Amino acid sequence: MSIINVVNVGKVYGKGPNSVRALKNINLKIDKGEFIAIVGASGSGKSTLLNILGGVDRATEGDVYIDKINLGELSENDISLLRLRKLGFVFQLYNLIPVLTVEENIEMPVLLDDGTMEENYKEELIKMLGLDDRKNHLPSELSGGQQQRVAIGRALANKPDIILADEPTGNLDSNTAMDVMDLLKYITSKYNQTLVLITHDEKIAAMADRVITIKDGEILND
Ligand SMILES: Nc1ncnc2c1ncn2[C@@H]1O[C@H](COP(=O)(O)OP(=O)(O)OP(=O)(O)O)[C@@H](O)[C@H]1O
Ligand SMILES: [Mg+2]
Repeated sequence: MSIINVVNVGKVYGKGPNSVRALKNINLKIDKGEFIAIVGASGSGKSTLLNILGGVDRATEGDVYIDKINLGELSENDISLLRLRKLGFVFQLYNLIPVLTVEENIEMPVLLDDGTMEENYKEELIKMLGLDDRKNHLPSELSGGQQQRVAIGRALANKPDIILADEPTGNLDSNTAMDVMDLLKYITSKYNQTLVLITHDEKIAAMADRVITIKDGEILND
C-alpha cells in the first residue's frame, strides 16, 4: 500500500508572462518504509516536488495523497497539523532555534502540538544521534554534523511516518555527510519510516531503494 500517491501533479509559479512551470504531469507512488532519492539538475523541480509532498506548497494541477488523505482538500490549519504529526522535515540549513538547547530543539515539534515527548523515546533518540553529552548545549556550540543530527532528531520527535529531506548533507564534508546518512538510514529503517531525500551526491543516491530523476519538471527515470 502506498503511503504517498501523486497523481498528475503540475506546478506553475506566478501568473502571466513571468510565470514559471516547475512541474508537469508527475505521477508517483511511494510505499511505507521505502527510501527514495530524488536527483536532477539545479532548477529541475526537486524542491518544488518535495514541498508539495510535504504540504508546504500546493500543486496547481493534480492531487497528492498522504495516507489516502487528499492534501488539496485540507485547510491550511489541517495541513499544518498533518505536517506536525505525520511528517518530519530536514533541510540543508539546519534551521535550529539558536536560544534553545539541543534537547529543547529536538522536542520543539511535540511542544508545538501541545504534547510532551515520552522520556524513554527522547533518551533513546538522543543516544542514537550521539548527542548524549551535548544535550544541554546551544546549536552555536556544535559542529555542522552535530547540528544536522539535532535537526534529524527534531524531524523524528513526533515519530512521523514520512521524513522529507532536501539536501540534508549539502553543507557537510563527505565523511560527516556519510555518517549523517548512515544514521538517517538506520533510524528510518528501525521505525519503518518512509524517507524521501533530495541529493546531488551519487554515493548517497546509491544508498536508496529507488532513485527518481527529475528533468525540466518531469520524471525522467524511476
Ligand atoms: N517561489 C518561486 N517563484 C517562482 N519560481 C520559482 C519559485 N521557486 C522555484 N521556482 C522555479 O521553479 C523551478 C524549480 O525550482 P526548484 O527549487 O524546485 O529546483 P531544484 O531542482 O530544487 O533546484 P536546486 O537543485 O538548485 O535546489 C526553477 O526554475 C525555479 O526558478
Ligand atoms: Mg532545491
